[in-house]
Amino acid sequence: MPDTRVPAYPMKRACPFDPPPELGRIRAEDSVTRVRLWDGSHPWLITGYDDQRAVLRDRRFSADVRRPGYPHVTAASRARRRRSRSFISMDEPEHGKYRRMLTSTFMIKRVEALRPRIQKIVDELIDTMLAGTPPADLVSAFALPVPSLVICELLGVPYADHDLFQRCSRTMVSTRSTAEEAVAAGDELKEYLVRLLDRKADEPADDLLSRLVVEQAETMTRSQLADMAVLLLVAGHETTANMIALGTLTLLQHPDQLAELREGDPELIKSAVEELLRYLNIVHSGRRRVATEDVEVGGRLIKAGEGVIVATDAGNRDESAFPDPDVLDLHRDARHHVAFGYGIHQCLGQPLARVELQVVYGTLYRRVPTLRLAVPLEEVRFKHDMLVYGVHELPVSW
Ligand code: HEM
Repeated sequence: MPDTRVPAYPMKRACPFDPPPELGRIRAEDSVTRVRLWDGSHPWLITGYDDQRAVLRDRRFSADVRRPGYPHVTAASRARRRRSRSFISMDEPEHGKYRRMLTSTFMIKRVEALRPRIQKIVDELIDTMLAGTPPADLVSAFALPVPSLVICELLGVPYADHDLFQRCSRTMVSTRSTAEEAVAAGDELKEYLVRLLDRKADEPADDLLSRLVVEQAETMTRSQLADMAVLLLVAGHETTANMIALGTLTLLQHPDQLAELREGDPELIKSAVEELLRYLNIVHSGRRRVATEDVEVGGRLIKAGEGVIVATDAGNRDESAFPDPDVLDLHRDARHHVAFGYGIHQCLGQPLARVELQVVYGTLYRRVPTLRLAVPLEEVRFKHDMLVYGVHELPVSW
């Protein structure tokens, strides 16, 4: 029976730039506590930074979405993630086997080599935007195409098909989608990628999907490869796109810090990326796990089979880890944030996301110093109904 005295989760943001205020209150009282989900279950919610890292590095917590007790975000994500499993929902040793196939591609050194190409993509998109008449929607003109073009080139997915994969990913990450819609979107994207992988097997090119389809011909089925490709395509662009758009909106609210950033000090640009990741928490639905054994966390006993939600948005605003956590300070050393998760599932694409954001934050405001919001802030529509937080559109002028 759902216990209505237990707070419902997720809570809604009151301010678009801050986590829901209830999360801070809960953390101050008790870092390990129960919440109530859409299906009436009562998983544990972990809000304190230290307890979060303890859970995420503990192998006794499983990411396997098929296990009973796993705290699903919605009925739709339960249906979709059970149907197509990729390594984000696997435990060791299976998880490591698949993740290792990709680690060389996402190594810092390899990703740094892409920086000039990413710079060119960013510059060209800015040229095109500036050639038009303001206002423009920063999301469709810039924030979405940057990561989309980058991940397409890396994987070897034709960007001309971006309508299809952007539409499918949006349905997959929307909390308003029905189970049927989410499954259909996942299937459509997977079928598209299976066809693409078939073509690459016949005519391999110099890209990640070609390499995988050739190297893993004996070890992975086409369907498993397509599940991996779906993960890379979806994880790689909604997230970065929202960091670009919401990051820009945040900086426009902090003109002094934006002016400093515009001066182009590479060290400040790097720390700005980390601080905005910490501050904005765009992946705001919590890292979800289920205990496989009884485990004590923060003085509480979490029993085998119980679900756990690690609210990294609360952890990134925990003052024991970040002094004055609710203040945006681009000079802060925020590198130990948990915006990319922590432990074995920590974001594989983080070196790529970092370079993309460094290039964007280091270029856009310098090249368009008069960039401003073209509508009142109250008219901006925020993504409260998406697994990845951000803005739907961002009308800007210059
Ligand atoms: C700012 C942008 C990004 C953010 C905030 C972000 C955030 C995250 C988070 C929080 C996780 C952990 C999931 C968990 O613990 O359950 C994760 C995992 C992952 N991310 Fe990212 N991500 C970003 C960009 C990217 C990019 C560009 C890629 C590249 C294609 C990518 C690929 C992945 C993959 C493959 C995983 C699964 C890792 C595993 O399970 O071992 N992400 N990401």
